[in-house]
Amino acid sequence: MNYLKEIAQNALMRLPVVQRFAMRRHSTGLNNDEPAARKTYEFMTRFGAVKDKDVLELGPGQTLLLMHQALADGAHSCVAVDIADYFTARREEQKNVRLCIYDGQSIPLQSSSVDLIWSNDVFEHFRYPQDMVRECFRVLRSGGTMVAVVDVRDHYESEERKFSNNLHHPTWLWNLMKWNRSAFTNRVRYSEWLTMFDRIGFECVEKEPYVLPALQAEYRKRPDLQRWSEEDISARGFHVVLRKP
Ligand SMILES: C[S@@+](CC[C@H](N)C(=O)[O-])C[C@H]1O[C@@H](n2cnc3c(N)ncnc32)[C@H](O)[C@@H]1O
Repeated sequence: MNYLKEIAQNALMRLPVVQRFAMRRHSTGLNNDEPAARKTYEFMTRFGAVKDKDVLELGPGQTLLLMHQALADGAHSCVAVDIADYFTARREEQKNVRLCIYDGQSIPLQSSSVDLIWSNDVFEHFRYPQDMVRECFRVLRSGGTMVAVVDVRDHYESEERKFSNNLHHPTWLWNLMKWNRSAFTNRVRYSEWLTMFDRIGFECVEKEPYVLPALQAEYRKRPDLQRWSEEDISARGFHVVLRKP
């Protein structure tokens, strides 16, 4: 990795003109792909029907299809919050979905105002993970459910055995290289997320790590990875279903 180049690119990303240029080239995952969005919607609704519910999606990126489907299925309201606005030139696509762009730290909603929170491949991008988990707890009503699908892979690597490479760098250097980039990942591991959810007061209804054999093999031969557990290194991601008591 060319550290100086990474640091320079990260610094450039603070410039609004560079940000706007980069955003046009972003892939945000579902990218408005209807079959993929339908699959994600079906997954989310396995853990709670939307009828008459107030639904919040964290980080929809370029895809409001989950929110539209929830409204079509009788959700009382749908709000999406993101730190980047992919709809500046596509306002008409929002239809009845409220989209709030915010600082990524304090969700601009009242306490106990939503019944369901969904997020697909977003938690790993939180710059302030603890604050965000606390905020999710705050805005969720008692008895409400949060479903989070989290992709903890190194977003700059495509080879499976290298998916934990983002752990090599100290936090200060990682942030200096990546903080402003859309593919920034906070590198919080599976067990650390579970501890955070528990400490903040969520009850865990379901959890499933997505273990990759290639990462398991990598863990077993790498002394530098031993300060994490095998599960934390070999999970390329996970989902959790959490309830606010
Ligand atoms: C990988 S994309 C996923 C987009 C969409 N959920 C999907 O599956 O296609 C991550 C999204 O999370 C957003 N994001 C990052 N930090 C966030 C935060 N603190 N709150 C809400 N959204 C955030 C990013 O701007 C981006 O739109």
